[in-house]
Amino acid sequence: MPLLSLEAERFRGLASLTAEFDPGYNLIVGPNASGKTSLLEALFFLGRGRSFRSRRLQALICHGQTDFQLVARVKSQAPSVTLGIRAARGSTEIRIGGKPARSVTELASHFPPLIIDPEIHKLLEDGPVQRRKFMDWGVFHVEHGFLSEWQRYHRALRQRNAALRTGTSGPALRAWEEEFVQSGSRLAEFRTRYLQELMPYLGAAGRALLDLDVTVTHQTGWAAGVSLAEALEASAERDRRFGLTHVGPHRADIAVRVDGQLARDRVSRGQQKLLASALTLAQLGLQDRVSPGKTALLLDDPAAELDGERLERLVALVRTLPVQLFVTSLRGDLAGLGTPGALFHVEQGQLSRA
Ligand SMILES: Nc1ncnc2c1ncn2[C@@H]1O[C@H](COP(=O)(O)OP(=O)(O)OP(=O)(O)O)[C@@H](O)[C@H]1O
Ligand SMILES: [Mg+2]
Repeated sequence: MPLLSLEAERFRGLASLTAEFDPGYNLIVGPNASGKTSLLEALFFLGRGRSFRSRRLQALICHGQTDFQLVARVKSQAPSVTLGIRAARGSTEIRIGGKPARSVTELASHFPPLIIDPEIHKLLEDGPVQRRKFMDWGVFHVEHGFLSEWQRYHRALRQRNAALRTGTSGPALRAWEEEFVQSGSRLAEFRTRYLQELMPYLGAAGRALLDLDVTVTHQTGWAAGVSLAEALEASAERDRRFGLTHVGPHRADIAVRVDGQLARDRVSRGQQKLLASALTLAQLGLQDRVSPGKTALLLDDPAAELDGERLERLVALVRTLPVQLFVTSLRGDLAGLGTPGALFHVEQGQLSRA
């Protein structure tokens, strides 16, 4: 649902900040190092409970301070719901509607933002961790049982690895392996189904942005054509030797292909950005089908590294989406997205509405 307001205290270099947002298109303009990305980061944190550019909470706390606080009002069936986060080193406290939340995932049911930023090409370029996260965020929104299955699987994986390291065998190990196989197989089914559902959206986004036929396939994390139980059995000797489980959904990946060839081998950096954007916009399309009107898209400096025509294509596609938009730009003349419902200027961490 649209995010109507934000109060941020001691977050990065943003001065104590209060803003009322438009439920449609918000444009945030400012020079380098003014705080544009930091503002998007604060919004992302409110929905995801983490940053998109740092894994260290400490990096998000304003230098010289010990905590930060974010409060946002999100439109909902009821007039609005307030999301509150107070994070200090080693602790994050989340409140939804004034009540403590049990986990960060509760935030996402109120405000599930997606981001396209200048680093988005890493989704394709880096190792599989980001792609698994991408896939799992999507599955989480489509399949209700996913989160508990994911937790079940990772508990079984930890227990199995611990048993392998201590040399434990017998019924205790077998019980965890059974759990591992059951939950892991379910997890893989969820992911496969999700990627299949994503394909029509991805096909459309790939054609619109790149004029290419973009497809994804799920690499489950174990050899094709055998069950997870069989793969685990085949890996048992090696797993014991290394004290580590080498097969399973924790090793999964997505293979992205353009016109039938692996994308990594044939696209430029600019194309990688568009390809990763296509994946994100496809995810957004599917997410919006499942929970209409909830998603916000954060678009950080879309003009970076894209030539005029490519930027135009991205902007044209984004325009068709039924989402709340937060766009940052160095200049106020970002063409194509129309007139913003709210225009903000950022200067040295200070936000003002034009
Ligand atoms: N924890 C922090 N405390 C105080 N200042 C910080 C902190 N983290 C980052 N900064 C500063 O905040 C400023 C704004 O950073 P930000 O990345 O948001 O700028 P930006 O407007 O997106 O710039 P660009 O156009 O170059 O992308 C930077 O000067 C950075 O050094
Ligand atoms: Mg920036």
